[in-house]
Amino acid sequence: MQIIPTGETLGARIEGIDLAQALTADDTRTILRALGAHGVLCLPRQTLGVDAFADFGSRFGGLEINVANMFHEPDHPEVMILSNILKDGKPTGLGDAGQGWHTDMSYSRLIALTTILHAQQVPLRDGQPVGNTEFRNMHAAYEGLPADIKARIAGRTATHDFNKFWEMMRARPGNTRPPLTQAQRDRKPPVSHPIAYPHPITGKTVLYCTIGYVTHIDGMDPAESAALLDILYAHQDRPEYLYTHRWTKGDVLMWDNIGTTHNAIPDYGDIPRYMRRVQVLADRDYAAMVA
Ligand code: SIN
Repeated sequence: MQIIPTGETLGARIEGIDLAQALTADDTRTILRALGAHGVLCLPRQTLGVDAFADFGSRFGGLEINVANMFHEPDHPEVMILSNILKDGKPTGLGDAGQGWHTDMSYSRLIALTTILHAQQVPLRDGQPVGNTEFRNMHAAYEGLPADIKARIAGRTATHDFNKFWEMMRARPGNTRPPLTQAQRDRKPPVSHPIAYPHPITGKTVLYCTIGYVTHIDGMDPAESAALLDILYAHQDRPEYLYTHRWTKGDVLMWDNIGTTHNAIPDYGDIPRYMRRVQVLADRDYAAMVA
């Protein structure tokens, strides 16, 4: 296995591994270390099927079955389909997933270590990929915070609510997401997490607070909370923390959901895009796994 960093703030390619073959414990450790070091890993030209894709994800933790799981691969509720492709006029996948800055599963009591996508169809315009995915480096964003802001968020938690992003998407013109049912809301009630979060692989502190799901800073006056959140969002928005992945069919892209935040760019209209996705729960002792 060769790990080739992009040289940018995030990202590395991993060559020389076929995910259709069984991984060794050493392979898993190497990938986890690379995930902590580079945040976004691209394993190109992978041809694995749905079973092997789910198996790969489950090397790193349990696989979440999404609370609003409307589209998944047959017999695999844990493998979601993100796609704009229609069949007989009906959607075959979630067509608007992740279109806004967010951190997958920060709304969950048990958060996600990583999300993994396998690109089945990548939209091209004039021969160039569109539908890129953008990431921000939240290790670097925390490091780069002024000392007074670090002091203000120390020991603080923020509330994350699944319904916030859902309703933001529903408010977009033409969106067809139904409102969440009460049962769905009960399964994912608002939860609190530290804003300065200890990363389970690197042991360093990351900024775990992104606009998609965060509603407020707990125990703070609402105006003060809103003003401090604006500072945190503007800070993480700085260009030096940004990395963009341009997709190629066959890419398996694995990102650190604690040390990065991301945004899917919806610039491809009805040019077909089809991704398989698993969300991997942070339910293992990663420090021990990488030791
Ligand atoms: C996501 O936020 O999980 C979707 C990202 C993408 O489709 O590019």
